[in-house]
Amino acid sequence: MRLRPLGRTGLAVSEIGFGCGPTAGLMIEGAEAPRLEAVARALTLGINYFDTAAKYGDGRSEANLGRVLRKLGARPTVATKVALQVADLEDIAGSVIRSVEGSRARLGYDRLDLVFLHNRVGERRAATAAVGSGPLLDVDDVLGPGGVIEGFTRLRERGIVSFVGCCAYGGDAAAVGRLIDSDQFDAMLVNYSLLNTSAWSPVRHDDTGLADYHQTGAAAAARGMGLVALRVLEGGRLTGVSDDPAAVCGSASVGTMDLAEVAVRFVLANPQVTTALIGFSDVAQVDAAVRYAASGALSPDVMAAVGGQLQRLRCPSR
Ligand SMILES: NC(=O)c1ccc[n+]([C@@H]2O[C@H](COP(=O)([O-])OP(=O)(O)OC[C@H]3O[C@@H](n4cnc5c(N)ncnc54)[C@H](OP(=O)(O)O)[C@@H]3O)[C@@H](O)[C@H]2O)c1
Repeated sequence: MRLRPLGRTGLAVSEIGFGCGPTAGLMIEGAEAPRLEAVARALTLGINYFDTAAKYGDGRSEANLGRVLRKLGARPTVATKVALQVADLEDIAGSVIRSVEGSRARLGYDRLDLVFLHNRVGERRAATAAVGSGPLLDVDDVLGPGGVIEGFTRLRERGIVSFVGCCAYGGDAAAVGRLIDSDQFDAMLVNYSLLNTSAWSPVRHDDTGLADYHQTGAAAAARGMGLVALRVLEGGRLTGVSDDPAAVCGSASVGTMDLAEVAVRFVLANPQVTTALIGFSDVAQVDAAVRYAASGALSPDVMAAVGGQLQRLRCPSR
């Protein structure tokens, strides 16, 4: 498994990251044995980056991940997240600190490697956000006095958090751009996939309904931030396994390659992506992702075929 630098943090993390969120659900629900097996296999194959959140399964993802890693005697890089609720907006910095203390207890770690702000950011506060749960924050909630960064700074000063990140999945690209320009964040979660390349490329999505991230991924990379790609398989849509009727859009193969392989290798072909997060349901999916990453860059023929199919894949559906 190749490692890539996580921006300017000095951390080197695996090209494939282990997603512990609800999309696959393995780290939140069900028996311990398959969880243990999948995490053990991932570690053996060189995956050293795990993504969880206080919100995933109301803390169960963090607790399960912490316990499984302790059983395996492993200490990979673990990223978690703070998701503020409307009531937390009365005391944002304090709420950030309390959330991180909860994550620390559930994971069983004294020091957290990386903590992302899970809330999306827009030009104006709103009680709910179109993507994700909890309120949409405005830029001042994050950067202003008593805001998220103040909470993060206090935690860093106490040695409890090493690095912090923000999120470009939903929200407003201009507001995200202001977070990037603030130079307060070390990393960013970014929606980047075969279907939606707008975090790097100027793409017109027209009637597809896909969000336009206005090249925020490239802007963050230019500032030295690490870039963690999510929705690499569009939650299963790029494997044809989703319940979403639009899954049919992703059921094709490109040449002899499964679309999931093309999707993963496409994201990793971008050298500014640090790691491609994948939600795994079982060991076979861990094996597959690692195999895809090991196959390296897509050939020019496949890239050309992918280009030809992109428009069809982006059928108006979401
Ligand atoms: N910050 C945020 O707001 C945010 C949002 C979304 C995700 N995330 C993070 O990103 C992680 C990934 O989530 P995602 O939404 O981006 O999902 P994703 O990785 O695009 O898709 C995951 C789904 O793909 C399927 N899959 C995985 N490997 C496969 C393979 N080799 N062949 C066929 N199918 C395969 C699984 O489907 P089955 O379930 O059918 O097996 C799995 O549920 C999450 O766990 C979380 O850590 C963060």
